[in-house]
Amino acid sequence: MWFFRKWFWNLLAWFKAAVNKPLTIPPPMNGLPIVPVPLSAVVPGLPIDHVLACRQQDIPTDERTPSRTRFYRLQVWLYSAFSPMQAGLPPIDADPQRALAGAYTWLHKTKFGPPAMPAEYLGSPDLGSLAVRGPYACYTRKVGDGVFEWDFESLGRYAHHDGLLPVGARVRFELDTVQRALRAVRIDSALGSAGPADATWERSKQVALCAATTHLSLVRHFNGVHLAGGAHVAIATRNRLPPVHPLRRLLWPYVYATQQSNDMVTRGQMLPGGDFECTFGLSFEGLCRLFDDTYPGYRFEVNDPRADAAARQVTGQGFDTPTEDNLGAIFDLMHGHALEYLRLYYLDDATLRRDAAVAEWLDELNRLVPNGVGLGPDTLGIDPLARLVARIFYLVSAQHEILGGFLWNYQLWTHRQPIRIHANGQREPLDVYQRLVNANYNLNVTRRALIFDFGYLALDQRGAASMRRFVERLDAMQAEMERAPWAVWKLYPRALKVNINA
Ligand SMILES: [Fe+2]
Repeated sequence: MWFFRKWFWNLLAWFKAAVNKPLTIPPPMNGLPIVPVPLSAVVPGLPIDHVLACRQQDIPTDERTPSRTRFYRLQVWLYSAFSPMQAGLPPIDADPQRALAGAYTWLHKTKFGPPAMPAEYLGSPDLGSLAVRGPYACYTRKVGDGVFEWDFESLGRYAHHDGLLPVGARVRFELDTVQRALRAVRIDSALGSAGPADATWERSKQVALCAATTHLSLVRHFNGVHLAGGAHVAIATRNRLPPVHPLRRLLWPYVYATQQSNDMVTRGQMLPGGDFECTFGLSFEGLCRLFDDTYPGYRFEVNDPRADAAARQVTGQGFDTPTEDNLGAIFDLMHGHALEYLRLYYLDDATLRRDAAVAEWLDELNRLVPNGVGLGPDTLGIDPLARLVARIFYLVSAQHEILGGFLWNYQLWTHRQPIRIHANGQREPLDVYQRLVNANYNLNVTRRALIFDFGYLALDQRGAASMRRFVERLDAMQAEMERAPWAVWKLYPRALKVNINA
């Protein structure tokens, strides 16, 4: 039975990868304003009240693709009719390459290449290196002189599946001034407090990495980028900026079709039997509480790697910060583009402040995004607006990528970074690992790239030329990065997609 189940779902995952085409983004249109309501009223069966989302019937018709909705509905129905899960299966192979070969098949390979293994996972995981390189660098925070931390302790409070350990963890790093690096020196978790000389150290590292990847996928990616950030930026942009407004035209490819995509993937991932419950360690009840609790604490500032690194106090601290440097350079390019484009349409700050649509857009953003977007009509100017626009570009392209498709090279190596921690020490069962592989595989379907000429959406030649210059600069950054050796932890401009749509 497992053979048929596995191949049925592998075929479906492959089919999605085979037929998915980049969206064609038409110019914006007028429509009824979207008024988001609690998620519990949008998706029956999801008891989540703090998250606000667009109701299915309010998804704008010009931002829907009915064939995608139908396919996704079929997939969600199949989750219960012919579930990809089968109780009682043995654990995956102890050899990570054999485990991967069992789940990532010849069929998968026809559409997307195999994951690379980060250097940090070749031996015992190097948490100090992961604190500055790759997706988990966003969690590193200064807590004292030469002392840094990853804090996932709160994850341990949420209900998990039977037989698993809670994944709450806190990792303490200390500065190695000679190596200009961080070293993990202590991990507090359900296994107790462990240091590098303790017998529980290796397993504590697994718990810490399980916590990091759980938080990254659930809180940062889906709750943060999709529900708290992306959805509301798209709603405010559609509701408040007229279709012929220069800012609407600039932002349009970045927000297009967000509500339809969010609605589909919320159902497929969050409902009982969905991807989240079936792969991660939290139970459905635990997941719902986690989303409800973390949504109100969302910080839009995480979409500005320069400001976020400064807030966490990780730059200029005596250790190298390759990922912060990489992300900061991408952000600077976006910031430059936003500034150049806005200056085409606004002579000075006073002209911008007379634009009532922009003031209303900011008001709506600050009302919808938990804790606001850090800019209101009172402090509006061309420079601060450019920074906000760059944060929006970054949110839906770079931030979404590093928390999503990018994990292909990290999350599948469960011998180092388990997706669940079994109390008896066993590895993940075959069905859980297969689902993890297929979910990550489908995060990497072909989508509309950021490096694309959206000049046809501009109001005039000046705007179109500015959009084209942005593409040229992204291409130049890509070429420059390619002159150095490829590395798994680097985020390349060519990997970026223009929006968060599935
Ligand atoms: Fe996503």
